[in-house]
Amino acid sequence: MGILVATTNKHKLREIRHILKGIRVQGLLDCARSKLGTRVKEDGKTFEENAVKKAKSIRLKIGQIAIADDSGLMVDCLGGRPGVRSARFASPPTPRNLCTKLLKTMDERRGAKFVCVIAVKYPSGRVRTVKGVCRGKIIHEMRGKHGFGYDPVFVPSGYRKTFAEMAPAMKNRLSHRARALRKLEKILK
Ligand code: IMP
Repeated sequence: MGILVATTNKHKLREIRHILKGIRVQGLLDCARSKLGTRVKEDGKTFEENAVKKAKSIRLKIGQIAIADDSGLMVDCLGGRPGVRSARFASPPTPRNLCTKLLKTMDERRGAKFVCVIAVKYPSGRVRTVKGVCRGKIIHEMRGKHGFGYDPVFVPSGYRKTFAEMAPAMKNRLSHRARALRKLEKILK
């Protein structure tokens, strides 16, 4: 039957499809309106809270499994902000606005991590979560054209290129989302 992903973010969906090769992945945009749950307000204090809330809101078809991703960037010198507010850190939340505001707000401490929590909802209604973290640093300017969000300013530890400069296949091997999805694959097996 495959997996239903509770996201309307086409970038996240493309990455999830690429990482979960071999599993049929359906996004909310592929569904009839009547199959959707109510739109969820992402007002939790943690990625876990938001991911679980999103997963619980999905109306499953019989036998279906659904997942919801809540993710964001936690910057050391900002005490973990923007965190769960990553998508709303600047307005309108274009990559350029998000990255520009972040670069203006930061001091010389450049450490940061991307976090991704995926909540999986089983046919029984039970929900559990897996988490992936990717540590790195924020550089001083935007570089690269791939990806989305904060990718142009984030360089993962041990690499020189930003996520936006890497080929998508490379980002999808080491990202926070890839790490969470690999754990998910293990528990689904
Ligand atoms: P949400 O999970 O829908 O609340 O959105 C998370 C926000 O965090 C996104 O809109 C991006 O701004 C940021 N984000 C999450 N994952 C990534 C990523 O892989 N690259 C760049 N930005 C990301």
